[in-house]
Amino acid sequence: MENEKDILILAVESSCDETAAAVVKNGRTVLSNVISSQIALHTLYGGVVPEIASRKHIEKINQVIGEALFQAGVGLADLDAVGVTYGPGLVGALLVGVAEAKAIAYAAKKPLIGVHHIEGHVSANFIENPELCPPFLCLIVSGGHTHLVLVKDYGVYEVIGRTHDDAAGEAYDKVARAIGLGYPGGPKIDALAKEGNPEAVAFPRAHIEGAPFDFSFSGLKSAVLNYLNTCEMKGEEVNRADVAASFQQAVVDVLTERAVTAAKEYRMERVALAGGVASNSALRAAMESACKRHGLKFYRPSPIFCTDNAAMIGVAAYYEYKKGVRSGLDLNAVPNLKIGER
Ligand code: KG4
Ligand code: ZN
Repeated sequence: MENEKDILILAVESSCDETAAAVVKNGRTVLSNVISSQIALHTLYGGVVPEIASRKHIEKINQVIGEALFQAGVGLADLDAVGVTYGPGLVGALLVGVAEAKAIAYAAKKPLIGVHHIEGHVSANFIENPELCPPFLCLIVSGGHTHLVLVKDYGVYEVIGRTHDDAAGEAYDKVARAIGLGYPGGPKIDALAKEGNPEAVAFPRAHIEGAPFDFSFSGLKSAVLNYLNTCEMKGEEVNRADVAASFQQAVVDVLTERAVTAAKEYRMERVALAGGVASNSALRAAMESACKRHGLKFYRPSPIFCTDNAAMIGVAAYYEYKKGVRSGLDLNAVPNLKIGER
């Protein structure tokens, strides 16, 4: 039997503070994955400064794309399509990647495919798990999103749970700032929590009446702030590691419990994790053991594919390409693009 021709996709990601490009073969094999992180720069300001992010993207993007093509050993002529994140994200940051991808697609006469950033996060699970295919349940936990979705087919999502207020990553970042860890909060809390007692402080686990798969983290964040204020008023010293560990345990408990319950309710045998918070060591361990206990198969991307990268965008673009989805050269950035929307 004759082999089908390989499909090579150049993918570009610039929705927040990483300028990234990757070349992905047949939706599953990453030939290169180049990430230029701006974290050190934004740390100076305690968070992402949108205008600085845009300016850094424009400075770095050509170099990052050149490096991705070089590492993959391919030229523009070898590509089958150019995929790019067009939302959600920071508008000025997204526009850099979108304009760049359009220019390349036009010059190289290749199809352009706009990709939803969060669908990219979900698709990161396909990179290292060749056997994984829909349907499965995915818990998406990033800086801006906390969703439970049924991945019914490639690119077909049904949201069954969402946060009513803060995203999980946002809660990590806000609590990290409150205990003086600075930006980016997630990895810093992850590290500090290893030295603390997760049962030291009883922080709340919010349940939402009538919405068993929804989340709320703003009450938890307020509880941490109240705890810190009370300690300060009483002149008691705060054990930051205990606070970090107890906060993290509250987040992990809620995420894990809701994901497992949803998998049972919707009769999903496979559960995947996606988004920046999916790189959290406590969440990965808790999901792993909860899934094992309930007879569910658990998937998660390696940490480098959890946080923002372009390889995941290349994977999502491949499945859109196979379905015949193409974007016009009038593709625009859509900062508040909803999951499952086009
Ligand atoms: O997916 P991502 O890289 O960007 C968005 O699409 O939002 O997620 C970034 C979020 C940030 O809130 C960051 O603090 C969080 O992911 N994060 C973590 C960890 N690494 C990144 N949260 C907890 N533990 C980590 N190890
Ligand atoms: Zn992201």
